Amino acid sequence: MAVRSGVAVDLGTVNTLVHLLGHGLVLEEPSAVAIHRTSGKVLAVGYAADRLAGREPAGVAVLHPLRDGVISDLTAATEMLRAFLRRARFRTSALRPRAVLCVPSGATGLEREALLAAAAFGHGRLDVRLVDEPVAAALSAGAEAGSAEGVFVLDVGGGTSEAAVVVGARIVAYRSLRLGGNAMDEAVGGAVRQAFGLRIGPKDAERLKIELGLTGGEHGSATVAGIDLASSSLREAAVGGELVAAALEHPVAAIVDAVSELLGEMPPDLAEEVLQSGVQLAGGGALLPGLAQRIEKQVGLGTVVVDDPLRAVVRGAARLLEESFEVLEKTA
Ligand SMILES: Nc1ncnc2c1ncn2[C@@H]1O[C@H](COP(=O)(O)OP(=O)(O)OP(=O)(O)O)[C@@H](O)[C@H]1O
Ligand SMILES: [Mg+2]
Repeated sequence: MAVRSGVAVDLGTVNTLVHLLGHGLVLEEPSAVAIHRTSGKVLAVGYAADRLAGREPAGVAVLHPLRDGVISDLTAATEMLRAFLRRARFRTSALRPRAVLCVPSGATGLEREALLAAAAFGHGRLDVRLVDEPVAAALSAGAEAGSAEGVFVLDVGGGTSEAAVVVGARIVAYRSLRLGGNAMDEAVGGAVRQAFGLRIGPKDAERLKIELGLTGGEHGSATVAGIDLASSSLREAAVGGELVAAALEHPVAAIVDAVSELLGEMPPDLAEEVLQSGVQLAGGGALLPGLAQRIEKQVGLGTVVVDDPLRAVVRGAARLLEESFEVLEKTA
């Protein structure tokens, strides 16, 4: 029997995940590439590149080729994807190989084309299909591609937050925001700068967000080191949970408002089933301490964090690749 190779890819703003047909999840790395500034030569991708971010040797630039969920640097994205597929040992097959690529619902036609271009490079024969990320997230939470049941999904990633009502493998209605975990990190970094006169790195801002979230976390405060803006000296500060929660308020309110607005617009025929199943919360942002409770309180709907939320989108895309590739529309 002829074998067919296939791949499902969640190319995210912060993380890229690759699932190989018949093999499972084979790669999970930061969406980063380190290049030599003058020659443009790729020096490292994924973890090895991300580790250099904020501490690049002279002459080296660390690029994050996606912004707000879509490709912002096509050359770097193509290089990164090629390197990841090589590392994942993706091979072409006698039967036309298949690929499922995840894309934000709010991506424009041009942004979708950039994704197809990045994937086609070096793999011209691929049968590539795009899937909206909320659809993949819904399928990972147990929905069936052929079902008529409505599912309400919220995917909070690094660069995008998307609320969607999904039926089977189709989106019925959605709201897409070009903000997510990265915007939260920036808000926390800005608040620390203002309150303590201290400049901290993005990775430390992310750690404060993860540890303290909206609730103050286990300890109610966390220590961070940075550069004093006035004296240029190095020092530490103990950052309280209230400061972080206040900084997160703006992005979190925007996300929760998008959920409310979508609930107001969705087809009323789906109300009963969505009331029963609630909001399915996916993406890394689903793990923000207090976010699920905040949504429940503000929109009055049960909110559950899906199993393993950082891998939800790739899991759903993998189901489509393995079980129902034909339901996805052909691309040119
Ligand atoms: N425990 C946690 N609490 C809060 N945020 C978290 C936690 N774990 C991860 N994150 C955040 O989740 C984000 C990454 O999530 P994810 O991998 O779903 O994004 P992505 O798919 O790369 O981005 P996008 O879908 O927007 O393109 C980062 O901003 C990270 O800080
Ligand atoms: Mg994502």
